[in-house]
Amino acid sequence: MSGPTNGPPESVGAPAFAVFASGDGSNLQRFIDLTRAGNYPGRLTLVVSDRPECRAVARATSAGIPVRARDPRAFPDKAAYERAILLALEAHGVRWLVLAGYMRLLGPTLLEPYRDHIVNVHPSLLPAFPGKDAIGQARRAGVMFTGVTVHYVDEGIDTGLPIAQARVAVRPDDTAEALAARIHAVEHGLYPAVVADVLRGDDLS
Ligand code: GRF
Repeated sequence: MSGPTNGPPESVGAPAFAVFASGDGSNLQRFIDLTRAGNYPGRLTLVVSDRPECRAVARATSAGIPVRARDPRAFPDKAAYERAILLALEAHGVRWLVLAGYMRLLGPTLLEPYRDHIVNVHPSLLPAFPGKDAIGQARRAGVMFTGVTVHYVDEGIDTGLPIAQARVAVRPDDTAEALAARIHAVEHGLYPAVVADVLRGDDLS
């Protein structure tokens, strides 16, 4: 098994993935449900969070999935925080990092060993409206369409190579809540399907 400095660990059977989340965890819940249903092409072996009190952590705990939730302020710096995560990822044989509402930029400690093995979901049609409050940005811009992007993760804020996008219409009488609900519903279909495709393409070496 290769160590974390040489790329993600090799896998036996379906590739192992970790979901990173900081908030509600509705996307995480989809991965929990699909992996439990039995025919998903990956194993959810760890949930990582920077917010021990968030709902995503509660969802993982009640599903019996191992959780690694630590406040970054308990560490001397970001590299130390991420080194501790890296050890947990390796201990759980994780090959893929699936970011789902994780509200931190990854640093080189995680990006380098997992390069090309990290994906994210973002609630806009990137490159439009990167960063925080993408749904609010779209409403303020007055666009007729926004949507969802699944993309690989690099050093930047939502700048990695896009894998898939889906469009969501903005209605003239939309409230922020109604638009967010439709976008989330699209995410819940698109994200696990795209991650499944990516995992099926993993040569496990
Ligand atoms: C989603 O809208 C996702 O696109 C963004 O953060 C939100 C996470 O939602 N990156 P949830 O925590 O999965 O409910």
